[in-house]
Amino acid sequence: LANTFQGDGYPLIASLALGGLAFSATFSMIRWLGPTFMRAGLKGVDMSKHHKKELPECMGAIAAMVYLLAVIIFIPFPFYKDIVAATSGGGNRDVVMHVEHVQEGRFLHRFPHGKLASYLSAVMALQSISLLGIGDDLFDIRWRHKFFIPAFASIPLLVVYFVDFGVTSVVIPTPLQPYLGELFNLGALYYVYMASVAIFSPNSINILAGINGIEVTQSIVIALLLAFNDCLYLLTPYPHPATDSHLFSLYFLLPFLGVSFALLWHNWYPARVFVGDTYCYFAGMVFVVVSILGHFSKTLILLLIPQIFNFVYSVPQLFGLVPCPRHRLPRFNARTGLLEPSVTPWTPERQPKPPVAWALKTLDKVKLLRVTLDEEGRFVETSNFTILNLWLVWRGPLREDRLAMEITGMQIVVGLFGLFVRHRLALILFKQ
Ligand code: UD1
Ligand code: MG
Repeated sequence: LANTFQGDGYPLIASLALGGLAFSATFSMIRWLGPTFMRAGLKGVDMSKHHKKELPECMGAIAAMVYLLAVIIFIPFPFYKDIVAATSGGGNRDVVMHVEHVQEGRFLHRFPHGKLASYLSAVMALQSISLLGIGDDLFDIRWRHKFFIPAFASIPLLVVYFVDFGVTSVVIPTPLQPYLGELFNLGALYYVYMASVAIFSPNSINILAGINGIEVTQSIVIALLLAFNDCLYLLTPYPHPATDSHLFSLYFLLPFLGVSFALLWHNWYPARVFVGDTYCYFAGMVFVVVSILGHFSKTLILLLIPQIFNFVYSVPQLFGLVPCPRHRLPRFNARTGLLEPSVTPWTPERQPKPPVAWALKTLDKVKLLRVTLDEEGRFVETSNFTILNLWLVWRGPLREDRLAMEITGMQIVVGLFGLFVRHRLALILFKQ
């Protein structure tokens, strides 16, 4: 493995090993601490079961803590050679990686403070988001308040980005270049864009939720696809200029996969624990961290297509055009044991405004919603605007684990297609 990869493979092996340790630690700590969390009031009812049992909530906090410990313990590994070189006076040619200049016949070694700063900013961003998540699980912070907090967590990343890359221009597709030029500089807007990605990613994972396992499987799929994308850059026959960014990304993704698989073990149908908002925010932020610092945030967007669809589809409820109940998860039919689309009821007194009514009926016609009208054409109920409910509208009632598997399968297909577009279509659109 160490030789297959471009650059230095040994820290990667350490990262893989830490990922394994993180898996075992998370796996056993979730079992031990479940009852403790319940005693502290962190519990929730599994709504889609015959026996409405209470389960420990917020177990993502354990995953996040183990993860943070793992990435902190990992810090010396990628810098090992630099540390040796810096402390040994830099005499050994083999270990010197960053030779600044030669003085009196000795190589003076400059420690890569920039790399360390970006690593630390990543840890800081992930710590802030975990705090927010735990706060939300404890106190149920209001939607409009918690929405912007990921943007604050991303400030250290944006500062490092500003200092390290400072690239704020986007490449214009070749056919448009005669009109717009080769590059278009977004300037400060580029930072607004990155902060928006930071807000979007954690929140979008949190609202594609409500059936056992789905929060974790969608995060694992994104992490695996990002890691796959990283390997494409590391396995090139020549050293790719982006090797460092993609190694960095793997250092953060491998332990993430470790803790996530452990969590999935307990959260998969029939769930024994819930992941809580902590996990959703934390997972979303891991993706933001690697993609901003690795300078591939646009690739991340391609991998978030199902989440983007779910968000855009949710807009009527998120912005109050259609009432939004506290929970929009699919409805459990106790008679069949299957999930059906959950609905928002309308009363004769409370009907949608005419343009909304027209839009709802149109969505129903094109099979993007299920609308029930009474004999006089008044709205009785409309299915809730989530991709999970929509899937049930299309596929009919499904068992909970079946629904989770189908949504995850769809996400893998869409994600692979996203990567294909990124690597193949980009060649055509941006050809030299
Ligand atoms: C988000 C969704 C909400 C959805 C909820 C489910 C939006 C705007 N919000 O809210 O519609 O109902 O996630 O997580 O789209 N639960 C289960 N089975 C599961 C997972 C969760 O029954 O597999 C229930 C449990 O009672 C658990 C609760 O959902 O305690 C957790 O909900 P929470 O994460 O607090 O909801 P939000 O993230 O605010
Ligand atoms: Mg949630």
